Amino acid sequence: MKQASHLLKPPRFWILSLVAGIGLFLFALATLVPPAKAAPLPYQTDRTSNDYCLACHQQEGISKKIGNESLPVTINPTEFHLSVHAEEQLLCVDCHTNIVDYPHPDVKEKTIRDFSLDMYTSCKKCHKDQYELVQDSVHQKALDSGNKNAAICTDCHNPHTQKRMTGQTSGQLTPAARLSIPEKCAKCHSAIYDQYKNSVHGKALTEEGNTDVPTCIDCHGVHNIQSPTTASFRNSTPALCAKCHTDPTIMDKYGISTQVLSTYVADFHGSTVKLFEEQFPDQPTNKPVCTDCHGIHNIVKVDDPQAGIALKQNLLVKCQRCHPDATANFPGAWMSHYVPSPTRNPLVYYVNLFYKFFIPAVLGGMTLFVITDIYRRIVNRRKGNQHS
Ligand code: HEC
Ligand code: HEC
Ligand code: HEC
Ligand code: HEC
Ligand code: HEC
Ligand code: HEC
Ligand code: HEC
Ligand code: HEC
Ligand code: HEC
Repeated sequence: MKQASHLLKPPRFWILSLVAGIGLFLFALATLVPPAKAAPLPYQTDRTSNDYCLACHQQEGISKKIGNESLPVTINPTEFHLSVHAEEQLLCVDCHTNIVDYPHPDVKEKTIRDFSLDMYTSCKKCHKDQYELVQDSVHQKALDSGNKNAAICTDCHNPHTQKRMTGQTSGQLTPAARLSIPEKCAKCHSAIYDQYKNSVHGKALTEEGNTDVPTCIDCHGVHNIQSPTTASFRNSTPALCAKCHTDPTIMDKYGISTQVLSTYVADFHGSTVKLFEEQFPDQPTNKPVCTDCHGIHNIVKVDDPQAGIALKQNLLVKCQRCHPDATANFPGAWMSHYVPSPTRNPLVYYVNLFYKFFIPAVLGGMTLFVITDIYRRIVNRRKGNQHS
């Protein structure tokens, strides 16, 4: 017991030497570190600040060797500060979680594309909805089957320069973002973009800044783009075009008929497409859908002097794809979208008109006959009653 209580007593010697040691250490430190001349810059104290990274990365001409390729690593600070991610106060290290200081850890990828393919998964952390939609897209399927050129998030959105695309309160795509879409797709689908740019839709968008016309994503979707070569895609084309082409608030501005769907469905081709769609949803219809006559990415005004299908010879080519024996007058067998009138399809118009008046006249005449007949009988019976 005595010995134990002795051990609990603080030994004066140890305390004294500890204090002396700390004092000596602090003195040594003070002589080694020169006094600061000015207040330290943020990146000197906070290694994870954007200023710390940008101090080096704003320099022109710096690059990183990846395999045999050279990846430029300059980040333009002005552009970065205008981006949605800077606006949202994101840090470089929120996405570059593996980098805290310099030199950086080794890059294990052997090509720039492989580097991008590994990096883009960082978007998932904050944009789970879009990331999940993408899993079901044609692009993801192409990636999964080994096509590394299929689009990933960073092909369409540069994380350092991407501006806000949707209105903060409305949640709707902004006009500026809408106008920029076809160019995003053009990076890889340049042949289709070139056709689109010269079409009635694409010209209005790219030359006039008109946002009423469809961009690539109105017809294909965005993050969950599906294959457009399937039966269900073909069979739903009339509905796709009708979304805008039956809407008078859009079409009245351009003086374009909104009856193009109803006349299409009323027509022998259209009515069979509708019937067919209901009976065999998994088979592509062999009747023409809108795009068979009008084109797809190269749709022009119907009265276009070169390619317009209001010209019989241009339309005939379309008919001949399925009616190979069709001759010059064949397109005339079809009423087109027109609601019959005295100038367009007068025969159909007058036949319709005839029935419109003939049938009511016949029915009306018969009713009148029946009524007068009954009246006559009543009068006759009354007369008979009076006589008896
Ligand atoms: C001292 C200057 C310096 C600082 C500070 C710096 N970098 Fe770098 N960084 C470079 C240079 C130079 C390269 C390219 C060649 C190399 O790695 O040496 C590079 C390459 C990169 C790369 C390309 C791929 C890779 O991993 O090498 C990324 C990404 C990167 N830096 C991000 C950052 C981030 C994020 C920060 C801030 C946390 C940062 N850097 C801070 C100089 C710097
Ligand atoms: C929203 C996420 C995000 C933020 C914030 C971010 N980065 Fe990046 N960064 C990425 C992704 C993803 C890549 C890969 C891009 C690719 O596929 O080439 C990348 C690539 C890079 C590269 C390689 C060169 C290049 O452009 O591909 C450098 C250098 C870099 N970032 C530096 C920075 C610096 C410095 C900051 C802060 C000022 C920053 N990053 C902020 C996501 C981000
Ligand atoms: C650390 C979180 C974080 C990461 C990681 C991140 N983002 Fe963002 N991002 C945001 C925030 C916050 C916003 C602004 C709020 C919003 O609208 O979602 C935003 C906005 C966006 C927008 C504009 C959205 C709009 O409605 O206008 C796009 C596009 C975008 N991010 C793409 C990406 C891509 C691509 C990546 C991967 C390279 C990425 N982000 C990684 C946080 C992040
Ligand atoms: C093929 C091009 C493409 C790819 C790949 C792509 N996006 Fe987008 N993204 C767009 C377009 C175009 C828009 C604007 C259309 C819209 O908002 O309807 C958009 C919109 C967004 C928005 C704004 C909100 C929204 O959903 O409309 C966010 C956030 C976003 N993308 C993140 C991502 C992320 C994360 C990935 C990867 C998982 C990704 N995107 C892949 C083209 C793409
Ligand atoms: C980084 C390159 C890249 C970008 C950007 C890109 N795509 Fe693709 N896209 C591909 C590749 C690669 C394929 C697969 C091609 C194949 O399998 O034949 C593909 C396939 C498609 C398909 C399916 C084609 C088919 O025959 O089934 C559609 C539709 C498509 N992309 C639309 C778009 C749209 C719309 C955009 C813009 C919002 C876009 N893509 C942006 C590379 C890209
Ligand atoms: C008005 C609707 C519409 C617009 C706008 C549109 N597409 Fe298409 N796209 C279609 C239809 C319909 C098909 C199916 C063609 C078929 O039957 O094979 C298609 C097919 C495709 C294909 C696959 C077949 C092929 O020809 O390779 C790709 C890729 C594609 N579109 C990309 C784009 C891109 C990129 C844009 C924008 C520049 C765009 N589309 C604009 C309706 C549209
Ligand atoms: C069998 C071929 C064919 C089919 C199928 C077809 N069209 Fe047409 N379309 C034409 C022809 C021919 C014209 C030009 C009529 C004329 O001026 O003689 C036309 C005219 C139009 C016009 C211009 C109308 C105007 O007011 O100037 C639009 C818009 C249109 N079609 C959209 C559609 C849509 C949407 C579909 C599918 C629901 C469709 N078309 C199906 C052949 C077709
Ligand atoms: C997002 C709405 C939208 C969609 C979807 C759309 N269009 Fe259009 N379309 C327009 C607008 C707006 C115009 C008028 C453009 C102009 O004249 O500047 C137009 C013009 C046309 C014209 C030219 C009519 C003429 O002669 O003046 C034809 C033909 C046409 N579209 C056919 C189609 C077909 C076929 C589809 C489906 C594959 C389709 N459109 C899908 C909005 C749309
Ligand atoms: C995508 C293929 C396709 C295109 C393009 C097409 N048709 Fe047809 N058409 C058909 C099919 C299939 C039938 C139904 C044949 C049957 O039921 O016996 C049909 C039936 C007809 C009929 C009914 C008489 C008959 O032969 O059975 C006429 C008339 C007709 N089409 C006119 C036209 C005209 C005019 C055009 C061009 C403006 C045209 N078609 C373009 C596929 C097409």
